[in-house]
Amino acid sequence: MKPTELTILIGNIASGQTEFTRRYLQRPENKDTVVLSKDAMRWGLGGGYKYKWSEDTEKHIHKSILDSMGRYLADGMNVVYDETNMNRETREPFIDVAKLVFNGFVHTSFDIRAIVLLPTLSVDEAMRRRCGYSGEAWGFPESRWREAWHRKNRLFEPPSYDEGFTTITSVGGF
Ligand SMILES: Nc1ncnc2c1ncn2[C@@H]1O[C@H](COP(=O)(O)OP(=O)(O)O)[C@@H](O)[C@H]1O
Ligand SMILES: [Mg+2]
Repeated sequence: MKPTELTILIGNIASGQTEFTRRYLQRPENKDTVVLSKDAMRWGLGGGYKYKWSEDTEKHIHKSILDSMGRYLADGMNVVYDETNMNRETREPFIDVAKLVFNGFVHTSFDIRAIVLLPTLSVDEAMRRRCGYSGEAWGFPESRWREAWHRKNRLFEPPSYDEGFTTITSVGGF
């Protein structure tokens, strides 16, 4: 039987995680995979037309993703977590939830995969991809995206097996 998979994407803003996910879902063997994404949820909270970000909503978003992840994995569905997931601390609760679910089903084989979008883009290129030439994206100015990119870049820790991953791969060219 094929293992149940949790795939955790790792890469800074505009490194191509969502593009990777889009291509991944196009493959017939992945058509039933569920994608969890804080950005998608933020758009959802704005009714699909506004990107909603606030401290009040962020704490619920975090918990909602954790909760959903546990539920889908427990049902044997494959999950891709499309977030920046830059460091061990941010990845840990999601790996833990997967371990908790998978260890509860001793006869199920599972895979907790890290896929790293190799950091090939400069901050300027990343900003061009996110904001184009309009100087903003999703209601936030480029300066805010740039600040977030630098903050995340400083946090970056490559994934390691001792975090609980069973597979670690890198993809480039995004
Ligand atoms: N290989 C690529 N070449 C050019 N543009 C790309 C490439 N991959 C993604 N993009 C574009 O760059 C932007 C950011 O990509 P996206 O996948 O949304 O990044 P992330 O989800 O990592 O923030 C999107 O507009 C996307 O269409
Ligand atoms: Mg994205």
